[in-house]
Amino acid sequence: MALPSGLEITKEVLDAEIKAFFDLAPPLKNSDDVSQKLEAFVKTNSLLSGTGGARRVVCVTSGGTTVPLEQRCVRYIDNFSSGHRGAASTEYFLKAGYAVIFLHRRGTCQPYCRSLPDDPLLECLEIVDESNIQVHQFHSQAVRSAITKTHAAVAEGLLLKLPFTTIFEYLQMLQMVAFTIKSIGPHAVFYLAAAVSDFYVPWKSMAEHKIQSGSGPLDMRLVQVPKMLLVLRKDWAPMAFCISFKLETDSKILLEKADMALRKYKMHMVVANELSSRKEEVVVVTSNEKILVRQNKSLGVDDVESALIELLVERHAVYVENSDHLTGQQ
Ligand code: PMT
Repeated sequence: MALPSGLEITKEVLDAEIKAFFDLAPPLKNSDDVSQKLEAFVKTNSLLSGTGGARRVVCVTSGGTTVPLEQRCVRYIDNFSSGHRGAASTEYFLKAGYAVIFLHRRGTCQPYCRSLPDDPLLECLEIVDESNIQVHQFHSQAVRSAITKTHAAVAEGLLLKLPFTTIFEYLQMLQMVAFTIKSIGPHAVFYLAAAVSDFYVPWKSMAEHKIQSGSGPLDMRLVQVPKMLLVLRKDWAPMAFCISFKLETDSKILLEKADMALRKYKMHMVVANELSSRKEEVVVVTSNEKILVRQNKSLGVDDVESALIELLVERHAVYVENSDHLTGQQ
């Protein structure tokens, strides 16, 4: 429902929009498989051997969602996101002892693969003779590290990779993750770094077949994707620690918009980033602070995620401690 700008929609209207979105979305093809994997992953990490406590679990969303223009999709709207932020953050969360659900756009940057070349298959491998292929000496360290660390994290039950492509898949999977990790209360974190489409074509009004170009200019109406952040926070997983991102290209409005998102969606933290400087610095906005986080080149760290995740882990620990006090679970 379109409202004049400046008017807030009520929770009832938002709930109705969200219900309509899910009711009309094409059902997730592999929902049973996703659901089983999630259940098993959360169960494994719910009980730490001997301690009776739960491991901290973070859902990192990463990469951009697509908006199909045809049901038998030939064309779609996409965005710039490479998934680098999500992949790097996943590595640091794992290093900090978290279990990570990596909800990522298919084909985007993967954890531990950041230092591999763009086309790893063709650039890392070389043919020795008829029956032997080997890793090129130059890339051997990066390949070894990517394979060993990824396999170890998956084998230890600490990394679950769930791929999505469309906005429909992403939001259905995000909801499934939330419903599953709700059971671990404040030990759950959402780190919403995915670049989520703001506008889409509802499935029912979408052309079934390839749109024909013979009939002149294309006139198409996109409707707004309902923002699910508030329901995620309030209804889907109310005890989870929620961090969302705010991306702008105009740095003059960035912090104001991040502040607004913090209050409107009741996030615990919003990470504000500007498109061109996003790899060098971000500002973490909380209810009473604005913390500038930069890559620390003098310490040999060439990404911003190292310091960012350190800060978030620290704040999450305080949140868990306070929640445990409140619920008497010390
Ligand atoms: O992937 P990289 O190339 O490394 O880039 C990282 C990044 C710039 C994509 C990342 O740091 C980032 O800013 N991600 C959020 C981008 C975005 O969608 O910003 P937004 O202002 O449109 O949305 C704000 C928040 O609302 C986001 O947390 C988003 O997940 C969420 N959202 C957005 C739209 C929508 N319809 N529903 C949502 O829940």
